[in-house]
Amino acid sequence: MKGLILSGGKGTRMRPITHTAAKQLLPVANKPILFYAVEALIEAGIKSIGIIISPETGEEVRQCVGDGERWSIEIKYILQDQPLGLAHAVKTARDYLKDDTFVMYLGDNLIKDGVAPLVERFKTNKPDAQILLKEVPNPTSFGVAELNGNGRILCLEEKPAKPKSNLALVGVYLFTSKIHNAIDEIKPSKRGELEITDAIQRMITKGEHVDSHVLTSWWLDTGKKDDMLEANRVVLDEMTDVSMLGNLDEQSRLSGRVHVGKGSILKNCTVRGPAVIGADCVLENSYVGPFTSIGDGARVSHAEIEHSILREKCQILDFNGRIEDSLIGVNVELTRSQSKPVAFRLMLGDDSKVEVV
Ligand code: G1P
Repeated sequence: MKGLILSGGKGTRMRPITHTAAKQLLPVANKPILFYAVEALIEAGIKSIGIIISPETGEEVRQCVGDGERWSIEIKYILQDQPLGLAHAVKTARDYLKDDTFVMYLGDNLIKDGVAPLVERFKTNKPDAQILLKEVPNPTSFGVAELNGNGRILCLEEKPAKPKSNLALVGVYLFTSKIHNAIDEIKPSKRGELEITDAIQRMITKGEHVDSHVLTSWWLDTGKKDDMLEANRVVLDEMTDVSMLGNLDEQSRLSGRVHVGKGSILKNCTVRGPAVIGADCVLENSYVGPFTSIGDGARVSHAEIEHSILREKCQILDFNGRIEDSLIGVNVELTRSQSKPVAFRLMLGDDSKVEVV
């Protein structure tokens, strides 16, 4: 069985952050989202993974993830030259996939229980395809499944205006090679894409066995800022790797689960977990609240930060204010020359410079 991770797309809903970075490389608890997908596939016993990349961000993804050596697996890159849909991505990967069974994993999705139980189910039930569903409050934003009373799929629709249920298609699919014939038989949708949802519907119409499983644990699709913050919150909430590898002065306090990376210095700071602080950071006279992650090499002084993601090397200096529910890009400089306490909710792209006066 192979893995196929989709890491193309332009990340338009995450601009300005994605003007300079692939959305799948944005960090959740200081680790690129894409790594969660790779590791979930490895945990399920998969040793060969193809990653679909786009011309815009492909090189960055390749540089960051590498050839798989660090995990002792093989990773191949497959260029999809235009964003023509998920089924088009599978078509592009046809030579890589051959006639093998595979797990297709959308690189911006995160699921709590990983892929291993799904692969087990697939091996036991031997369907032609297996999909994963989850109840959502906003089904119009997703592919939607209608099931009968026995849990059998009646039909699938991509982003329907009038959804027949609240069961969304999660971005993790298991396929046999029969999916390729179905893809050859579909036409582009109204948005001009070859939809994987339509290809699976085609399999159902042809009488092929499509199994479905409804997830009860969390699933996150990290398309927008608030989804990223929610993913960060959920992952930090379950973080078990908690070590103090930096230096803490006598005035500093850590409470709850807090990870501090190597070479980081905390002076007169309070950090209330769950929170993660990367390596080589300097934090002074500051408060870091729950559900915050701070990237390597960041510098923070006289600031309060809570429920936020600060990327690598950002500098929030002499701020005298509070930052919450924010996503701050790489190398951002944020300063403030006024001392009246206020709170900010921000989304700042890489290399931004903001001075609040
Ligand atoms: C895609 C699929 C959709 C699925 C969703 C899950 O949507 O087309 O069926 O529910 O991923 O993340 P897109 O991210 O292309 O809007």
